[in-house]
Amino acid sequence: MSADRYAVVGHPVEHSKSPWIHARFAALTGQAVQYDKLLAPLDGFVETIARFRASGGRGCNVTVPFKFEAIALATAVSDRARLAGACNTLRFDGTSVYGDNTDGVGLVRDIEQGAGRAIAGQRVLLVGAGGAAAGVLGPLLQARPAGIVVANRTVAKAQTLADSHAALAAQAAVPLQACSLDALQALGAFDMVVNATASSLAGDAVPVPASVLRPGSLAVDLMYGAAAQGFLAWARRHGAEPRDGLGMLVEQAAESFAVWRGVRPPTSSVLRDLRALLQGG
Ligand code: ATR
Repeated sequence: MSADRYAVVGHPVEHSKSPWIHARFAALTGQAVQYDKLLAPLDGFVETIARFRASGGRGCNVTVPFKFEAIALATAVSDRARLAGACNTLRFDGTSVYGDNTDGVGLVRDIEQGAGRAIAGQRVLLVGAGGAAAGVLGPLLQARPAGIVVANRTVAKAQTLADSHAALAAQAAVPLQACSLDALQALGAFDMVVNATASSLAGDAVPVPASVLRPGSLAVDLMYGAAAQGFLAWARRHGAEPRDGLGMLVEQAAESFAVWRGVRPPTSSVLRDLRALLQGG
């Protein structure tokens, strides 16, 4: 039996761990899946997808910088992708393209199951209001925390992100508030702080005051590897429990696999082995 073909499409894509993760999922579930990396030219996302479909591709993950082009290309999208305004998962169904976003559910699963911390009833701070933050806010609201504050350097973007999620927040009965980074000083400590900014990539310091943490707060960076280390060390220094984005990476992949195959792969051994691989290498 020949394997069904999937891929991660991005620019750059060379360092993606997704082929390794999906190979493990395929082995663990007994699914005949082949998963590759596809480098698309910056001005050639649509053509790259068209070629991949024509050659038999069944679906793909989409990463930086194409998640917005991916939602434009989809002919039907999930509610969570619509709220995020972006797709990280496409499934090719004959002539139609189903678009989904599994990033937020991946984060929620990693916090609740990976870190073993219930989000319900907790005060959550989401730092950042770009694409990464937009991808996770909806599923965080659906996990019914006591409240979410979205803080961003450019406060207008935080407000726009909160406004676009106001209906969901009301439906979930979760107070949702936007503020500037400076305003955080007055808001006290949070149970969970999620860093969805790109500040570490720019080599900048952690953009929030230490007063947002208390001993035992969970401090999650959506990145992993070197990019996450500044935030995680800062969290550790202030008595918080640091967690990088590797668990979210594995969980979003598992959700994408389920969207394509209708089968949910187990994740804990995959995360453990991936962490060991990265630390060894
Ligand atoms: P991504 O897709 O990774 O979210 P993005 O859409 O460019 O990338 O968003 C980057 C986020 O990081 C934004 O919230 C940005 O703040 P602004 O909206 O004010 O630009 C935030 N960010 C980037 N560098 C930062 C820094 N040095 N300090 C604080 N926030 C920063």
